[in-house]
This record gives sequence, structure tokens and C-alpha cells, in this order.
Amino acid sequence: MLTEAIQYAATALVTPKQFRPFIRSSVSLWSRAGRCAKDWAAHEESCKAFIRETIAGMKQRRTAVVLGSGLLRDVPIEDLSAKFDTVVLVDLVHLAGVRMRLKAKRFRNVRLISRDISGFDDAVAGRVAEPLSFLRQVPYLDLVVSANVLSQIGVGSKRRLEAEGNPARNDILERLVRAHLDGLAALPCKTALITDTAYRVADRSGHMLEEADLLCGVPAPAARRAWTWPVAPYGELNKNYQAVHDVIAL
Ligand SMILES: C[S@@+](CC[C@H](N)C(=O)[O-])C[C@H]1O[C@@H](n2cnc3c(N)ncnc32)[C@H](O)[C@@H]1O
Repeated sequence: MLTEAIQYAATALVTPKQFRPFIRSSVSLWSRAGRCAKDWAAHEESCKAFIRETIAGMKQRRTAVVLGSGLLRDVPIEDLSAKFDTVVLVDLVHLAGVRMRLKAKRFRNVRLISRDISGFDDAVAGRVAEPLSFLRQVPYLDLVVSANVLSQIGVGSKRRLEAEGNPARNDILERLVRAHLDGLAALPCKTALITDTAYRVADRSGHMLEEADLLCGVPAPAARRAWTWPVAPYGELNKNYQAVHDVIAL
């Protein structure tokens, strides 16, 4: 609790005001990631391996952008920093602990940007959402990695719609997921998309208690790799059931 409070307070000091409401969920992700480190390790390694594989074949490595860089648990930041001239990490929030780690390792070519990449405000206002259009302004862009953020765009936007008393706008959620996929597909550079697509909650006998699509009805694109991620292993939510997510990479 104390370390969470310190992480929260230190992050609030360096986070622009409009992004401070998101610190709480970053801190709770950080706590859960610490508790579930053993169970998440294979997923995190699969993500890093896929990104390393993606950059291995690249001839030009000037600027790389990571969307949803978060805690840098599933992003091989050492390799990206070593192999690219500039690495730009984009997330709602960069925790103080993550910033300290970057400083301690002296990654001088790594930049942090606080940004909402959902397109939520435009979609709610009835405007065309082009949340990744800012990438067109990034000079010498050779790689964009979407690192386990797409499902969170749907989940976070659903929460915001509910909070605004607008819970039935599934069309908005679908549009935002499509906008991310279309935005990545339209980029004139190499891209890597890693995302969870669905989850299942099951008990120890395999009996399914709940399952849901995480892409808001948008069909998952064809994957090059696929694996599962025990996001809430036994004991995290309840000792008798676990939540497992399906993950794809392409
Ligand atoms: C599952 S975590 C990704 C983990 C991260 N790639 C890592 O290596 O630790 C999802 C991340 O997406 C970020 N996120 C969620 N919605 C976002 C949005 N609308 N804009 C930018 N980032 C967002 C969260 O803050 C969180 O850091």
C-alpha cells in the first residue's frame, strides 16, 4: 500500500493534469504485474520475442514508436534503444518507477509522450476518429509497435461511456477498435500489433463462468503468432477460478 501511494504521488508530480485520472489504473496494473510476475512471464517473453523478430529484419532503424508502452514489461526497451536512433513511448501515464528505470539505464534516445490514443473524444462528438494520425508528424518513422493497448482502448472507452450515462454505444467502441487497426494499416512503415482479443473465466475443472470478446465485435486480424496470457491466475480474483486472455501478434 505504501509503495503504491509513493508511486502514485511521485507520478502525479510529473504527469500533465488531464492524464492524472489514469494514474490509479496504472498503479494497480503495476501492483498486479508484480503479484502475477511468474504467471505473466511467458506472455511478456512472447511479446518481446515478437518485437525483436520484427526489428531483426529491418534495414532502416531511425525512429520507433511504442503505443501503450506502460510499464515496459512486454517491450524490449534495451533492444529498441540500442537499435533505433530515437524511441518514442506513448501512453496515458508513465509511472515514476518506469521513468526512474529509464534514467538509471541512461537511455538518452528514449522520449515519453502522454497521449490518449483512443480517439474517444472525436467519436463521442460524432467526428471521424483518426487517433493515430499524429504519427504522420513523427520524422523518420520506421517502426510502430502497438503493445497490448488495443483491448484497453475498448475497455477504457466502455468505462468512460458508462460513467457518462451512455452505456449502449457499442457502435462507438467498434469504431475506435477499427480506427486503431486502420490507423496502423495505413502507416507507411513497419508495424507490429500485439493484442489480447478475448478472455475466459473458468474454474479448476475447466467449467466456463464467463467469456467475452475484447475487440468489441471487430474480427481479429489474421495472426502470425498466438498464445494465452493468464491475466488473473488462481488466487488473484478468487482461489477457485482464473481469467485467461487470448493474445495475437502480427
Ligand atoms: C496492458 S497495458 C500494456 C502493457 C505495456 N505494453 C507494458 O509493457 O507494460 C495497457 C497500457 O495501455 C495504456 N492505455 C490504455 N488506454 C490508453 C489510451 N487510450 N491511450 C494511451 N494509452 C492507453 C495503459 O495506460 C497501459 O499502460
